[in-house]
Amino acid sequence: QPERTLVLIKPDGVTRHLTGEVLRRIEAKGYTIVALEQRTVGTELLTEHYAEHQGKPFFAPLLEFMMSGPVVAAIAEGHGVIEGFRSLAGTTNPTSAAPGTIRGDLGRDWGTTVQQNLVHGSDSPESAEREIALWFPQG
Ligand code: CMP
Repeated sequence: QPERTLVLIKPDGVTRHLTGEVLRRIEAKGYTIVALEQRTVGTELLTEHYAEHQGKPFFAPLLEFMMSGPVVAAIAEGHGVIEGFRSLAGTTNPTSAAPGTIRGDLGRDWGTTVQQNLVHGSDSPESAEREIALWFPQG
């Protein structure tokens, strides 16, 4: 069956009115949005979501950033979508992300402690399963 990945449009993307632009790129690539919800999230969900970053210097700023405004959570579906969305997103640092990618075209360094890089995408099938269960527990 087709693969699924968790996509988050972070508060910088939502606040800058780039939700439609990000979803447009996912759909234009040929993937299907099978779940979509905008919400404001709290420490508990984010601590679980970013468990691998606990203890890192940017952990507290990362949570603060992710709670600074609404987030759009989506499940995108299609063969190869985990790698495909990461390719659409570009590398973590928006300054050096390749033009043509979401981060490369739409992101920049704003001088903040934590990189504001517009989107999140699951990095492996295991992460995707874990993150989808966390953000969309109803299935
Ligand atoms: P992402 O890879 O989606 O999830 C972890 C986030 O932490 C990352 O996006 C950036 O927003 C941020 N991040 C990761 N590494 C650093 C870093 N070295 N300095 C600042 N922010 C970072």
